Amino acid sequence: MKPPIGILDSGLGGLSVFNEVQKLMPDESVIYFGDSAWCPYGARPADEIQRRVFTVTDFLLEQGCKLIIIACNSATIAAVEALRAQYPVPFVGMEPGVKPATALTKTGTVGVLATEASLAGEKFHRLITDYSNGVNVITRPCPNFVELVEHGVLSGPKARGIVEEETLPLIEAGADVLVLGCTHYPFLRPLIQEVVGPDVTLLDTGAAVARHAASFVDQEGTETTTPKHRIITTGDLSHLEKIFPTLCPDIPPTQVRFSHSNL
Ligand code: DGL
Repeated sequence: MKPPIGILDSGLGGLSVFNEVQKLMPDESVIYFGDSAWCPYGARPADEIQRRVFTVTDFLLEQGCKLIIIACNSATIAAVEALRAQYPVPFVGMEPGVKPATALTKTGTVGVLATEASLAGEKFHRLITDYSNGVNVITRPCPNFVELVEHGVLSGPKARGIVEEETLPLIEAGADVLVLGCTHYPFLRPLIQEVVGPDVTLLDTGAAVARHAASFVDQEGTETTTPKHRIITTGDLSHLEKIFPTLCPDIPPTQVRFSHSNL
């Protein structure tokens, strides 16, 4: 068996990155750790997120992971530098796409949707100082989006109402590009696009992160063990099993083994 790639998130949002990783590296196996019992990370202080991410990382490394993708902006901002300083394996983190957004805007205003923890992080402030280039960057935390995705509610009147409430003020303030700066948010992308209209560009960095991760992986050989992926949750296992096909429609169910962790 090839050593797996480890992917972690506060919950199910990182599955949006898992989808991109599988598209790009279909012969790799993945251990996905969704820390739904501790979700949301976005409302927690940075030191608490960091301690939790170290615990999950220790677990993934014990399972033999060769590379860890921190598929969570909040966890990346709180912990990635400390993780790199402590462990020898490569870590790939998330970063809200502020730089491409400022290059794309025509109105000179971009909106960044992210968690409170991400928006408060020093790393995020550095990103704005380094890349805003005179562009007006407005931000908005959307904890309700995380809750919708954790419950598998990606459409319908309740989800639409929440999406309207969070996104329309940014459009009214002139934003023509919205950065989806949390890995849960891409699951709401079709609904967000419908609400803000076709002229607003939505950006997320899942595919770019998968490409970055691929640069660390020697993709020789095919993983033949079945099922090849382990999807672990600290939350409700039967709920995960039920909504997984909605979140990861291209991953064949036969390729996945689900389990619960009390970590
Ligand atoms: N998916 C996480 C991120 O990218 C955060 C969700 C949460 O608040 O736990 O920031």
